[in-house]
Amino acid sequence: MIHISIFASGSGSNAENIADYFRGNEDIEVSLIISNRRDAYVHERARKLGIPSVTFSREEFAVGTEIVKKLHEYNIGFIVLAGFLLKVSQPLLDAYPGRIVNIHPALLPAHGGRGMYGDKVHRSVVDAGEKESGITIHYVNEHYDEGNIIFQATCVVETDDTPDDVARKVHLLEYAHYPEVIASLVKKIAEENQQFENK
Ligand code: GAR
Repeated sequence: MIHISIFASGSGSNAENIADYFRGNEDIEVSLIISNRRDAYVHERARKLGIPSVTFSREEFAVGTEIVKKLHEYNIGFIVLAGFLLKVSQPLLDAYPGRIVNIHPALLPAHGGRGMYGDKVHRSVVDAGEKESGITIHYVNEHYDEGNIIFQATCVVETDDTPDDVARKVHLLEYAHYPEVIASLVKKIAEENQQFENK
């Protein structure tokens, strides 16, 4: 069994969708939700889903060690960022090399970087007159939105689309693809662990 932790700062609709996807799965479980905001709606979703959720301050995220301790306590093997707005600190990157992924609601490397999240991204896409937007799932490194890209999917942006219209299309892509991509990455890690144990 590989235990996943989801990091989310806000509503958490992706977190809920991912948890729903893995419910009843014998190999993968969403075991812990972590937020940087005590009032984030993701806690309410976690409560309904029966998944423990905890909050760490911005400072605790910057230091990282308390979070790594909590992740180990829950035997977490893989971390999924879903609408998480802080930078991931070095102790976490060191503790989970190649095991932290993020979803960005646009086609990186465009419309990414520090401060580019949620509606700001969709506003930027519309203002730039893009004909397409989409999602990018990528590994997390020490820079915002710069880790290696794992998967992208696109949607059309019509000339009269508002940022909210683009957000709706992008959310549908997120719900359709993020759980499956996570499943295939985690499966690969489980196979590597197995090979290691068999050596
Ligand atoms: C999602 O669209 C996600 O891609 C985006 O925040 C939204 C969170 O929605 N993430 C970023 O912008 C990160 N740069 P949710 O809380 O309903 O899952």
